[in-house]
Amino acid sequence: MSHLLPLSRVAKLVGQPRHTLQEMIRNGTLATFDGMVELDELLRAFPEVKWDDDAEFRRVTEIKDKAFARRVRDLVLPDKDVLVARLNELSDDYAAARALLLHYGNVMTWLDEKIDELAENASAETYHALHTVRAFLLRNLSETPQDAVLAQAVIAQERILKLMSAHVTIQPSGHEFFVEGNDTLLEAALRNGVSLSYGCSNGNCGECKARVVSGEVKKVHAHDYVLKQAEKDAGVILLCAYAPVNDVVIEANVAGARDIPVQQLAAKVKSVEVFNPQMAALHILAPRSQRLRYLGGQSIRVGARGTSGRYAIASCPCEDRHIEVHIPRRSGDAFAELLFDGLKANDSVEVEGPYGEFVLDEDSPRPVIFLAFGAGFAPIKSLIQHAMSLEIAESMDLHWLADDAGHYQDNLCRAWTDALDNFNYVPHEPTGDLDAMLKSIVLDYPDLLRFDVYAAGNAAQLQQAREHFVRGGLHEARWFAEAIDR
Ligand code: FES
Repeated sequence: MSHLLPLSRVAKLVGQPRHTLQEMIRNGTLATFDGMVELDELLRAFPEVKWDDDAEFRRVTEIKDKAFARRVRDLVLPDKDVLVARLNELSDDYAAARALLLHYGNVMTWLDEKIDELAENASAETYHALHTVRAFLLRNLSETPQDAVLAQAVIAQERILKLMSAHVTIQPSGHEFFVEGNDTLLEAALRNGVSLSYGCSNGNCGECKARVVSGEVKKVHAHDYVLKQAEKDAGVILLCAYAPVNDVVIEANVAGARDIPVQQLAAKVKSVEVFNPQMAALHILAPRSQRLRYLGGQSIRVGARGTSGRYAIASCPCEDRHIEVHIPRRSGDAFAELLFDGLKANDSVEVEGPYGEFVLDEDSPRPVIFLAFGAGFAPIKSLIQHAMSLEIAESMDLHWLADDAGHYQDNLCRAWTDALDNFNYVPHEPTGDLDAMLKSIVLDYPDLLRFDVYAAGNAAQLQQAREHFVRGGLHEARWFAEAIDR
């Protein structure tokens, strides 16, 4: 009997990102069946994985979590009702497997007796053949082959994963993620950078309604919003109040930049991080009752003490209540002056947004080049972290062309390179000859037609870069740019 595993779970088991497995499928080194991987195929394709030791898998997860900085991971058990339901399901599986084994045992006993019966009056030749068959069966049943030991270890690990997490597929977008710990479906989606529609996040507004297509879910939070009986009958739930018991398929709307309304919230300064005299980051904490909905690459207006400014968001939507903006010190920007000279942790700030449509094309699996000019690194950082959480890009190259503020988050970029095998970071020092630099970057990509390029910088830099890339073979429609003031 074959044992099939979904690709996302295989990625977790072998400690590899999904895009690596997709590349193996494309080049024929991993075979799939309807998007699933057969257990024997898994063992064949990953002979080097030590199935009885998941230290490597843990190490990669830890490195990735550190590289994502501040990404919050609850390492707690699932909600107790969900856990009980998952244990029930596992014990049903176990009972079914045990019943099957008992049945096979009975068949073997019958076969053994039948061989004795047939051998009684058989010719010498038949007698020998029957006893050869019996010896073969007994020998094979008494020895546990190496493959079976490995299969047992893989299945044991898969069972633990199933106990601790459930796999979710969103239709029709095709987004996939795992719900871990005691997260609701909505919390897990946001943590994984999937921008599902929602409003209050606490069961009052009904904007997170979605339909369960397959699988089982459990209510883990009470909600005041009342679902109609017809909705309940059709499998409609509130994503902010339910968690999956097993692997589920959910029909839900994934919001694009134009679907997300401008929101206003009263937030607090979490910290001010001054990188150097020209550049600082403002870390903002949204209130528990009202997070900011946005997509990587968008911008917000931040205000305090009568001043305000609009800045690119530098964080990932997957970072829960944390919002980060990078603010260059420049004359005429009163909010920037306030940030460098007076703003401190716990001060109140008003946040308004998001604005802009400089967001990832989540339907594109193409390799990506990110081009950051100076402080244009902020929206690029946000896009990169969003792309990492969604695991959509085949590969990501970051070219950071610094200005006088330098590569002020150089260590972070190097941490991404260390943690991810599909990420490449190339810092470029300030230059008086931007033309020559752009030309040399483009020369590194003889197949630009395959790529998407996301660039952020001032209008002149973007214009110059666009001309080089399009002349180098990039399809015009695959150029995405965001002009920033500096
Ligand atoms: S987000 Fe308002 S009810 Fe779920």
